Amino acid sequence: MEAIDAIMTRRSVRKFQNQQIADAILGKIIKTGTYAPSALALQPWGFVVVQDQAFLNRVSDYCKPIMHSLMKDAHDGMSDAFRALLESEGYSIYYHAPTVIMIIGKTASRFREIDCALCAENMMLAAHSHGIGSCWIGSTEVAYDNKELMAGFRIPEGYSPVGTIAFGYPAEIPEAHDKKDPHVTWVR
Ligand SMILES: Cc1cc2nc3c(=O)[nH]c(=O)nc-3n(C[C@H](O)[C@H](O)[C@H](O)COP(=O)(O)O)c2cc1C
Repeated sequence: MEAIDAIMTRRSVRKFQNQQIADAILGKIIKTGTYAPSALALQPWGFVVVQDQAFLNRVSDYCKPIMHSLMKDAHDGMSDAFRALLESEGYSIYYHAPTVIMIIGKTASRFREIDCALCAENMMLAAHSHGIGSCWIGSTEVAYDNKELMAGFRIPEGYSPVGTIAFGYPAEIPEAHDKKDPHVTWVR
């Protein structure tokens, strides 16, 4: 897949098949992530690959009601659609994806969030080019201060979570969509 096609046809996928992704393909997705630019070439990222569904369900059950109360008065963007999802029967914040990868960054690294976000986008595009869907799951953030639950992610000393992405073969492929025209200022 051409890079520009991959970028313009990638969508967040929220329905996955049960089929697990082969370790070798997950390895390639992670490797592609590490080709992202990073400040001072520090490459401050690390990865936690979670395939324990019982653990993911526990994290989801903890996050769901908190997300619901945080979102109760939100109506911007896809807030209404997201609230409807949160209220739907059997909803998991990870959409029952077979693999969830938490991208972690070296806590002491000043640009770790930017570096890891660039890495994450590479990973989502690489996944898409392998026919694998993905969705960044910001909802995990509300569990960050729950030490007991976070212990399950086995984050190594010196690293902190930056983002969590669900990966799996899509059961439903959303169509490519148009994005808003951005405000652009030219200075020349
Ligand atoms: C930082 C961040 C957090 C997100 N958190 C969630 C989430 O918790 N649940 C979810 O379903 N989608 C989440 N998304 C996906 C966005 O809703 C999605 O990217 C947006 O609606 C645009 O759709 P697209 O990715 O298909 O272009 C998140 C995306 C980003 C970048």
